[in-house]
Amino acid sequence: MDDFRYLDGSLFCEGVAMREIAEHAGTPCYVYSAETFRQHFIRLRDAFAPLNPLICFSVKCCSNLAILRLLTELGAGMDVVSGGELFRASKVGGDPKKFVYAGVGKSDAEIRYALEQRIGLFNVESEMEFENLSRIAGETGIHVGAALRVNPDVDPKTHRYTSTGKRESKFGVDLERAAAFFHAYGRDPFVSLRGIHLHIGSPVYTTDPYLESVTKALVLMDELAAQGFHIDTLDLGGGFGADYESDQSPPAHEYAQAIIPLLRDRVANGLRIILEPGRTIAANAGVLLTKVQYVKRSGDRHFAICDAGMHTLLRPSHYGAFHFVWPTEVDQALVPPRRARELFLPGLERTEVVGPLCETGDFLAEDRMLPPLNRGDLLAVFTAGAYGMSMASRYNSHPLPVEVLVEGDRFRVIRERETYDDLIHHEMA
Ligand SMILES: Cc1ncc(COP(=O)(O)O)c(C=O)c1O
Repeated sequence: MDDFRYLDGSLFCEGVAMREIAEHAGTPCYVYSAETFRQHFIRLRDAFAPLNPLICFSVKCCSNLAILRLLTELGAGMDVVSGGELFRASKVGGDPKKFVYAGVGKSDAEIRYALEQRIGLFNVESEMEFENLSRIAGETGIHVGAALRVNPDVDPKTHRYTSTGKRESKFGVDLERAAAFFHAYGRDPFVSLRGIHLHIGSPVYTTDPYLESVTKALVLMDELAAQGFHIDTLDLGGGFGADYESDQSPPAHEYAQAIIPLLRDRVANGLRIILEPGRTIAANAGVLLTKVQYVKRSGDRHFAICDAGMHTLLRPSHYGAFHFVWPTEVDQALVPPRRARELFLPGLERTEVVGPLCETGDFLAEDRMLPPLNRGDLLAVFTAGAYGMSMASRYNSHPLPVEVLVEGDRFRVIRERETYDDLIHHEMA
C-alpha cells in the first residue's frame, strides 16, 4: 500500500524514523515517500498498459516541484487547472505537449499563457469558453487542440462537493448538448476540437460509474463520427480511490480490467487515452506529522490539541473526510494492525484530535479511540499526500508548514517552513 510502517514501535517512512524528521524539520510537517509515489504511478501505468494512456498527474492534489519532477522523470504528463499550476508544471522540465488544461473559469491571461506554453490539450467546459479560446488563439496565431468536457450525468457516489459528473454540476456541458457543440465549433480554424473529456468525481470506489460514463461517451463519439467529426482523444479524468482505511480502494488493475475491454479496439484503431490521476498516486504517499501541544477535558470529551489543524489539512473539516491518526511512537502492543475507524487494542481513550485555530470546526479526527496522549507526543495523520498541503492556508496567520521528501534512508526539505516575514511579504502597512 505504501512505505509508512512501524518498526519496533516507531513509525518509519522508508528507512527514516518520523521522529528524526520531526526533530530536524519541526512540526507541522508533510512527509512524502518518493518510492510510494513511484510505485503508485508504475502500478497504474502497468495496469492500463494495454491502452498505452498518457498519464497526466493531477497537479492540484500535490503540487510541490520535487513531486512534479519525480513524476515527470517517470514519464508523466500534467493535468493543470490554473495558470499557476501550469507555471509549476513547466518548471520541472516536462513536455508541455503532455499537459492538459481543464477548469471552468480560465481567464484570458491564463489562456494566453497556456497557448504560449504550447500545451497539448485544452479541456473546454462551456460554449462561451470555446469562443473565447478561439478568439485568443486567432489573435496570437497559436493553434491548439481541445477536448469537450462532457457531463455524463453519472453518480460517482462520493461527497457532493467532489461529485463533478452529475447534471446539476458546474463542470462540462450536458451530454445532450455535446453534438450541437461540435456542430457549432467542430470546424473552428484555430482550435481543433477533437476529444471528449470526462471527470465524474473523486474518489470513486467502484468501477461501475466509470463503465457508465465511458459507455455514454463512446455512444456520443460514434454519433459524432457518423456526422463527420474526427475524435482522436478520450480523456477519462481521475478519481481512482486511495486507502484512507486499509484496503478500502480497488487496486489499479481492477479499474483497468473494467475499463480496458471497452476501449481496447478503439485504441488499436488510433484512439488516444488520457488519464488524470491524483489521489490514487499521492494520497498514501504522504503523512502529516503534528505535535500534541496540550491535552484537556471539556465536559465528557477529551481533547488532544495539536499544532496542525484545518489550516494544515482541510479535508476532515471540509468534507468530513476520515484520516487515520496514530502516535508515531507506541508500545509494541499498540502498533496498529491496520488503518481503520475502529481498532480494538488495550487502553485506548476516546479522543478529539483538534487544531489550534479559533474555530469549532477545526479538527483532524473526531471521536477516535487512540492510545493515551500527552503533551509533546508526535502524531501521524495518514493518507495526507493528496489535497493536503495543496489546500493548506495561512488562516489565523499560521505560516505554511514544511514539506520533506524521503528517499530510502535519506530525507530532504522540499519546501521550507514559512516564516512570519513570509506572512506579510506582499502587504503594505
Ligand atoms: C478535471 C480533474 N481531473 C483530475 C482530477 C484528479 O482527481 P483525483 O485526485 O481524485 O484522481 C480532478 C480532481 O478534482 C479534476 O477536477
